[in-house]
Amino acid sequence: MIIIKTVKEAQEFSRGQRRSGRKVALVPTMGFLHEGHMSLVDKAKRLADCVVVSIFVNPTQFGPNEDLAAYPRDFDRDRALCEARGADAIFYPETSEMYFSDASTFVVEEALTGTLCGKSRPVHFRGVATVVAKLFNATLPDFAVFGQKDAQQVLVIKKMARDLCFPVEVVVCPIVREVDGLALSSRNKYLSPSDRRDALAINRSLRSAAAAFEAGETDAAKVRGSIVAELQAAGGEVDYVETVDARDLKPLELLARPLLVAVAVKFGPARLIDNLLME
Ligand code: PAJ
Repeated sequence: MIIIKTVKEAQEFSRGQRRSGRKVALVPTMGFLHEGHMSLVDKAKRLADCVVVSIFVNPTQFGPNEDLAAYPRDFDRDRALCEARGADAIFYPETSEMYFSDASTFVVEEALTGTLCGKSRPVHFRGVATVVAKLFNATLPDFAVFGQKDAQQVLVIKKMARDLCFPVEVVVCPIVREVDGLALSSRNKYLSPSDRRDALAINRSLRSAAAAFEAGETDAAKVRGSIVAELQAAGGEVDYVETVDARDLKPLELLARPLLVAVAVKFGPARLIDNLLME
């Protein structure tokens, strides 16, 4: 496995792979890898001959009062995990390699980013779309693999890839959870043991919502209300609980498939997101 530090090297590496008839899959990450990320690497290995994992804590997707400086990092551990899982390369650029100091071009998706996380994190998806476009141009992948954990991100990236004609197939993998239901996240590191116990209310409340929907409940306000109540009872500070059409994120008052129930909530210092997809 090789470590690539520059855009030029990444492009040369990928062009070399493609010249030898090998397909390339990219797994974009911000590092501090866990089994959720590694499930994407496994999928990438099944899809392509060559797997590139990018590790870059992207400053432009963090707001001014967010956790950019505190975001957990452990490159040596990440490298060992990628190597053990059979990745072929890690693209690990410096911030100065990814962003010129006077960079003034950004990618903005306008239909899907005014809601959910886009509402509470106004610059977030501009940063995500911009860096993913750059990662595509740096690593020239045939496939790019993302997790359903970030449901809105998946839709934004698919839309961007389609709208801007990126020759990349965007592939989505299911959410990986701990045995007790907590969705894996690099930000789980911020949770104290008691925050972590309280945070189990996230998955619990989503599962109750799924059960209610499957039993015929269609009143979205009622379902959202139960989730909010359960999160607050556990001490969570709710950012949003939304019931939306899973294709376009338009709010649903009458629940129907394809349904996305999306949640963002703070437990202690950690803002966590999770969701339930009923297709
Ligand atoms: P990061 O939070 O590191 O996540 C990288 C990828 O791992 C994303 O596609 C995310 O959805 C996926 N992932 C995270 N937790 C997961 C879980 N429990 N199960 C399945 N997949 C999971 O998302 C980002 O980084 C950034 O926004 C990025 C796309 C890299 C752009 O900077």
